This record gives sequence, C-alpha cells and structure tokens, in this order.
Amino acid sequence: MSEKQLFTREDLSIRMGTEFVFRFYRLLKGAAIYGRNNVVMNQYAQECLQAIQPIIQSDGRLFFKIVRDNCFLNQAKIQVRADNYSIFKGFLNEMRKRWIGEIEFSEEIDNESLKDLVSLLSGLEEGNESNYLYVKKQLEYRGFGHIHVGKLEFFRDEEIYVDSEDQKRRSKEVYFKSIDLVKEVMEGVKNQNVVHIRKAKRLMQNAVNVIIQDDSALLGLANIKNYDDYTFNHSVNVAIFAIAIGQRIGIPKKHLSHLGMAGLFHDIGKTKIPREILNKTGKLNPEEWGVIRAHPVVGAEIVLRMKEWGELSTRMINGAFEHHLRYDLSGYPKLTRKRKVTLFGRIIALADFYDALGRPRAYNRFPYVSEKILGLMMERSGKDFDPVLVKVFVNMIGVFPLGTLVLLDTNEMGIVVQTQEEAELMDRPKVNLLYYKDGRYHKGKVVDLSEKDEPTGGYKWSIVKTLDPNEYSLNIAEYLI
Ligand SMILES: [Fe+2]
Ligand SMILES: [Fe+2]
Repeated sequence: MSEKQLFTREDLSIRMGTEFVFRFYRLLKGAAIYGRNNVVMNQYAQECLQAIQPIIQSDGRLFFKIVRDNCFLNQAKIQVRADNYSIFKGFLNEMRKRWIGEIEFSEEIDNESLKDLVSLLSGLEEGNESNYLYVKKQLEYRGFGHIHVGKLEFFRDEEIYVDSEDQKRRSKEVYFKSIDLVKEVMEGVKNQNVVHIRKAKRLMQNAVNVIIQDDSALLGLANIKNYDDYTFNHSVNVAIFAIAIGQRIGIPKKHLSHLGMAGLFHDIGKTKIPREILNKTGKLNPEEWGVIRAHPVVGAEIVLRMKEWGELSTRMINGAFEHHLRYDLSGYPKLTRKRKVTLFGRIIALADFYDALGRPRAYNRFPYVSEKILGLMMERSGKDFDPVLVKVFVNMIGVFPLGTLVLLDTNEMGIVVQTQEEAELMDRPKVNLLYYKDGRYHKGKVVDLSEKDEPTGGYKWSIVKTLDPNEYSLNIAEYLI
C-alpha cells in the first residue's frame, strides 16, 4: 500500500467517527427545537444518515460507545482534535445527562427510524438512570430490532482504578514478553538458529490492541528509563513509540503490527557488531565508527536472508535500512540514488532518536531529559525528521511526559500518570499525588490538573516545576506500573 493510500484511509477513519458525532449531535439538538416533520429535521437526519451508512456498509454495523471522556466507534477510539473538542464535550454532556452510553445500528437504517430514535433520546428525563430501558421498550414496540441503546457506564474512582489496573497488567505482560522475545530472536540471529517470527507477530498484535484502547500504560513503560539490557529495552520501546505514532496518524490496524515488528528489529544489524565496540566507553576510532555505521545495511541483509518474514519483509528492511538515513538523507548509509525515506522509516527514526537519547549508555552517561530531546527534534524538524511526525510525536509525549515527577502549587508532589489529548491542555496532565509516611512515599489520589475551582474559575492545581526522582530516592517505575 502506498503512503498516499495510508493517509487517505487515515483521514477517512478519523473523519467518519467525527462526522457521525457532529451530525448526530446536531440532529439531537434540532429535535429539542423543531417538530419531528420539520424540513430542517429532515435535512439533518439525511445528513446524519450520510455519515452512518458508509460505516455500516464497510464494517457491517455501527457501534458507538462512551467510555469516560472518550468516544469509541466500532471499538476504535475517535481522536478528538483541539478544534472540535468543544463539540465533543457538548455531545458527551447531552448523552451523560440522559444516562445513555451506547448506540448501535446492526444494519442500515432509514430517515424515519433515525428521527424516531433521536426524538426518543431528546425527550428523555434528565438524570434518570433507567432511561435506556424505556428507549429499548419503545424501539421494540416500533419493531426496530436493528437499533440498540445502552446505559452509560458510570465509573467511580475505584472502578477506574481496577479498570486501569487491568490495562496496566496487560501492558506489562506485552512489554516484558516482548523483551524476552527480542532477546531470543537477536540471539537466534547471532547463533544462526531458526527464529520464530510468528510469535513476534502475535506479540505485536497484542501490543497494538493494548495501544488502541489506551496507550498511556505502554508509553509509560517505554518512558521509564531502564539501565540494563539496553538493546532489548530499546527495541521494545522503539516498537511501542512507533505503534503509538502510527495509531495517531491513522495507519490501519493490520499495518500497525507490521510497524511494531519493523521497530522491534530495526537494530537487528547490531547483532553483528563485536561487543567491544558496542560497549566501548572511550572514543571510537574511524574504523570502529565504520563498523557501527554499517548496522543498517547489515540489518537489511539479515532480514533479506530470512524467508520467515513473509509479506512483512519489505517493511522490515525499510525499518533496518532507513532508521539513520534522516529525512533529508544527510545520515547514513549514503545513497547513490536520492529517494524519499518511507513512512515506516521516518516513524522509526523518530522513535529511535527519542529513546536512544533518553537513556544513559556507555558513552552517554547522563541521559537527556525528554524536554530537551523534544526541543532537539523540533529544531531538526524538516532536516533530520519529518515535520508532520515531529508535531504528532511532541503532542503525544507532552510537555510533562508520563512518569515525570512534579511539584504542584499546593506544595504537593506527584507523578504524571496521564497526558491530555487536547493541545491547549498539554501542561495540565493527570497527576498521582504522593504522600510521605513511615519513611517512604505512597500513592495518594489522582487529580486532573485541567479541573477548575468553581467559585474562582482558577485551576485547582498547577505544576510549578519538575523534580529529579533521584534526589528523592524514588523509583518511578514502582509507582507507575
Ligand atoms: Fe540503529
Ligand atoms: Fe536504535
């Protein structure tokens, strides 16, 4: 599939979910003002149908669900952009008031049944938890077996906790299994054993599933800098960052796991670099540099020789071959014929750069903080990196990435546990407060820094500065995972 197609599909899937919400919301608002047979209502219903039918035609159904502050369409999260945030918020509000959290069309619907559904929803009593039962009954009376509504799931704080615990557990499993697997494959390559690609593919599919639901736990794991097993951790982190970027720009699910694979094995060529060179603390001589700079070509050759990669192999070759090329081709290997770096190559280059600079290594004892790396990326945007991807990446990591230790203006200390989706709220993440008792820090409640104090209109909490966890003898990993 060419990149052009990828991008049109991306636009399509983002647009479809957003379009559905916009048009359904307008129809719902219209129902409160106009009569059922008013021309305006007809027009709105018609336009809403134009958003609904293509979804049913391609997926066989339309299933819309609200989970906390997020909307899902056929299991995929609808990405809300800053410019339409207020519309989503308005729609969520209307649905919450009525305690309706799910709408499903299991086959194509017509103008009349859609208007019926919307007038039923519009007429519901506010704050009545059993509204959905009433709508269900009414739909049954009218013989609309293909339309379903469901109750809004209300998550109390503890439930969110349990739910996110489950997500964390799955994330941890994927993360650590991937590390073992990379080890196995890389050692297999070294000793020329047979490697099990299918296992790797399955793991990456799991990673994609976890990331599509909520990428915060896996991104958190990737963000915590681990000191040992650099190569293996690095490979897994690159795969995670790559999938998370890919998801945000709308790469179809099937290709996301391929992207993960390409990220997982981008440095496979390093298996052929002697350990003395790889771990050398002193300055490398030109010859040693030459060996290091050969790893993209060596990696591409390794992939080429393995038939097990199947349809994946071109993408895997790109990942290995292109990750040090740079956007303007000023990196290595030097190409004799100029061409564009592929989308996968550009994504992996970005993920690789971020993860590589963020950790201490033999020749880089003090890792850069993420703020500085993002700054470097923006500086080199358009030269070393694809400018569009840099924007997506910077937004994804946020000003205060997951796991950052912060001091709040209430003099409380906390760890960033969730970043915000909207660009203007980037400096207002969710923070898990810490309290000190019996000689150590404990996790307190999670606060949302975008929350305002009603009477004054000011924010309840703001970040004053970031703190160095080492100064407080805190192992962030313990608190985050
Ligand atoms: Fe590399
Ligand atoms: Fe790398």
